Order: sequence, then C-alpha cells, then structure tokens
Amino acid sequence: MYKIAVLPGDGIGAEIVPEAVKALKAVGEKYNYGFAFTEALIGGSAYDAVGHPLPEETLNVCQNSDAVLLGAIGGHKWENLPVHLRPEIGGLLPIRKKLGLFANLRPCILFPDLVNASTLKEEVISGVDILVIRELTGGAYFGEKTREKTADGGEKAADSMCYTTFEIERIVRFAYEAARGRKKQLCSVDKANVLESSRLWRETVVRLAAEYPDVETTHMYVDNCSMQLIRNPRQFDVIVTENLFGDILTDEASMLTGSIGMLASASIGGKVGLYEPAHGSAPDIAGQGKANPLAMILSAALMLRYSFHLEEEAKVLENAVTTFLQQGYRTADLMEEGKKQVSTTEAGDIIAQLILKG
Ligand code: IPM
Ligand code: MG
Repeated sequence: MYKIAVLPGDGIGAEIVPEAVKALKAVGEKYNYGFAFTEALIGGSAYDAVGHPLPEETLNVCQNSDAVLLGAIGGHKWENLPVHLRPEIGGLLPIRKKLGLFANLRPCILFPDLVNASTLKEEVISGVDILVIRELTGGAYFGEKTREKTADGGEKAADSMCYTTFEIERIVRFAYEAARGRKKQLCSVDKANVLESSRLWRETVVRLAAEYPDVETTHMYVDNCSMQLIRNPRQFDVIVTENLFGDILTDEASMLTGSIGMLASASIGGKVGLYEPAHGSAPDIAGQGKANPLAMILSAALMLRYSFHLEEEAKVLENAVTTFLQQGYRTADLMEEGKKQVSTTEAGDIIAQLILKG
C-alpha cells in the first residue's frame, strides 16, 4: 500500500492530476497494489480557500505520504498578492525546500511519433534523450532578496545567487550516479566566466570528476548550452546545473520533445519525493479540456520509478504513452493533420486502458 498526496493546485493542474491518478489506479489494478490518495490544497486555490498557498495541513499530508503528485500552481488572479502569499514564493518553493527536494530530474525524451510536433527539424531532434538534473533548493530562488530606495528616487533590488560546497557536491554526485546508469557523459553547466557561485560550482565539479573516472565530464557555459541544445541536442546525455539555469534550459529543452506538455519531472533527495510536470498552470486554456496530461502522467511514472522502485510498472505506464501516440491520439498542443484530437480526460481514459492491456 502506497500513500500518495495529491495536490492539483491551480489552472490545468486540476484537469491533469485526475488523469495521472487514473493511470496509477490502472497500474494498481494490474499489479494488485493499493494506492491511497489524499487530496490537499496548494497554490492560489489554497489561498482562496484558507488564506495561505501552503497550508500547514498540506505539508502534514505530504510529510506523512510516500510521495506527492503535484499539478501546477499560479495564475493571473494571484499575481498581485503580497509576495509571500503568491503561489510560487509562498507555495511551490517552500514545499520543495521543506521536503528537502534538492534534485529535480527532467528527462527530455523525444517520443518518435512526435518528431513532427516540434518546431525543430527531424534530423536535429530524432533520438534525443537527455536527463537534465536541476539543483532545486539553492541559488537565486532561495538567496537573500533585498529591495531599497535609492537617492535618485528609484529603487535597488537584488537576488543573491548563493551556493555552498555542500550543496554543489550533493547535486553533482547525484548527477554522476545518474550518468553511471546511462551513457556516462556528464555536462556541467555554469557561468564561471562571470559568476563567483559558478566558479565554486566548476571547481567542485573538477574536483569530483576525479572520483568518477568512468564518466566523461565536460563543462559548458549556460549561454553556449542554450545554443547547443538547439544546434545539436544529441551531444548531451546528463546535464547538471544550478536552479535558475535549470529552470530556463528545461523550458527550452522541452521543445526537443515536441511540447512543454511532454516534460515530466521528479523532485527528490528528501524522504518524500514530489512529482510534477515542468510546465505551468496555463490559465489561458484552463477549464477547457485542452490540456495535455502526458507530462503529468509521465511524472507519475517517475514516481513509480524513483519513490517506489517499481521499474517494470513505470515502463508499462511509459509504454502506454508511447502506444497512445503511435495510435495517433493527440491533445491540442500536439495536433497535426491526420491525427485524432482528444480531450484531457479522453487521453487519460485511453492511457488507463492501454496500461491495463499492456
Ligand atoms: C518550474 C516552474 C517554477 C520554477 C515556477 C512556477 C516557480 O517554472 O518548475 O520550472 O521556476 O521552478
Ligand atoms: Mg520553469
């Protein structure tokens, strides 16, 4: 019996999370596992209901679960709240921090059937399989923030990008272990030509590289990496980088998979892992049944893999997604001529059926 906290959050979060739950239930039915789901509030909807984007009760539910399934948070409605009550700063960031989730894994895999969904050319993206490992509890997201008036009548604002040796070592070792299970190529991305935190980052990676002689280590500046991802993405196996760079590079890398709606993520490192798609709450399409639930469903597969060590079950779920695409089903974001457009719930139903048959 696995206890799963279910946090739909805002916008399309409420539409895609039930589809991932469906997929997990299908896995449970097929393999005879019990999944106990407990729903809790987070983000703007939590603020509306109880006045805070991360209610104490939600944190308790998460801490007492084996894993957390999170949809998405945020939306225009809450953009002008006092900063500490906003869904991002008051909800998502603290839950990551409080659960100790320093490692965010974002697998950028191109499903062969989606090769034409991307804006990039087939010869560039076919075969892409990159694991981006983003440091998730440090850097500018969590460094000191200041804001003060200046003599000229303006203001001065600062976000400090801060890293300790401990924080860098922890994520880089994690990335080396991940690379050992793959093609054994680790690219560390920094901005060591300009930033002091990046110089510490690079020195630390150089030192650790000696302990992992079986893994090929390379270093790349983040500006160059953003270009190389589009120029020749197949050169990458595992990328490890700090929080903000990882945020930006993974939105870019999602286009290698056809749509941001395909990019799943696992946030791990603490006792309880959290699984959420890399995309946002998409308020523009919320409530219309248009959202692509695949990143959410693929995040559930990562939960099976990383939190429950159910590798076979994770593969069954991922294979169901592959078959769904092979059979020509597409949500609006992936739609091409000749394919069958389905709604969010139809996609979830088809995938649950494929899991049961798979
Ligand atoms: C992500 C998102 C979040 C982040 C936002 C919603 C705060 O963009 O998970 O990539 O910046 O980490
Ligand atoms: Mg992001």
